[in-house]
Amino acid sequence: MSTSLFRATPVARSALRAASAVKPAAATFVRGKATLPDLQYDYGALEPYISAKIMELHHSKHHQTYVNGLNSALTTIAEAESKGDFTKAASVAPALNFHGGGHLNHTLFWENLAPASREGGGNPDGALGKAITTEFGSFESFVKQMNAALAGIQGSGWAWLAKDKAANGKLALITRANQDPVTGNFVPLLGIDAWEHAYYLQYENRKAEYFEAIWNVINWKTVAKRFEA
Ligand SMILES: [Fe+2]
Repeated sequence: MSTSLFRATPVARSALRAASAVKPAAATFVRGKATLPDLQYDYGALEPYISAKIMELHHSKHHQTYVNGLNSALTTIAEAESKGDFTKAASVAPALNFHGGGHLNHTLFWENLAPASREGGGNPDGALGKAITTEFGSFESFVKQMNAALAGIQGSGWAWLAKDKAANGKLALITRANQDPVTGNFVPLLGIDAWEHAYYLQYENRKAEYFEAIWNVINWKTVAKRFEA
């Protein structure tokens, strides 16, 4: 995942090529910058479930802000490190968590969505479908539990279907506050953004309607790929 989240700059790419030409087998460190990922669908492609305006603002403005904040935090840490100022480096930890988490979460989120006219919506089948039935009783029960988790988030946050590596890959439903990323023993499979910026322009205070609607544009192929990885 890190390769898609960080892209080498042109300068870094040429440095990498030059280094490769001299020592092809050597591991080369390239300082990358986080960049806004392209969407695999148009802003209007998730309508009527998520409006084009929400998608445009969410992707081009909100996600871009996390990308900028992450790059700024990384730059501050690198500068502080070069001066041996570890107090300064440590002070950036909250910003790194917030913006880094925001970038990671939204990158996963866009991949979790697809137009209803393409692969969006429906029920997961195969191993993932079976695991969901085993863990939650049925697909319908899982959706209900996920929606209840989303509704229960106070303030801003996310609900995730995750794989628990500490429990033989068992599925788990977890929530995270703000932009806290899913880390540790949990592998994020499907995330739903419960921040107001994800729905308010279209659904206003009726967030339960947004939580119901989004299932029409979930890309289960992506979730299954992450589950089977
Ligand atoms: Fe968001």
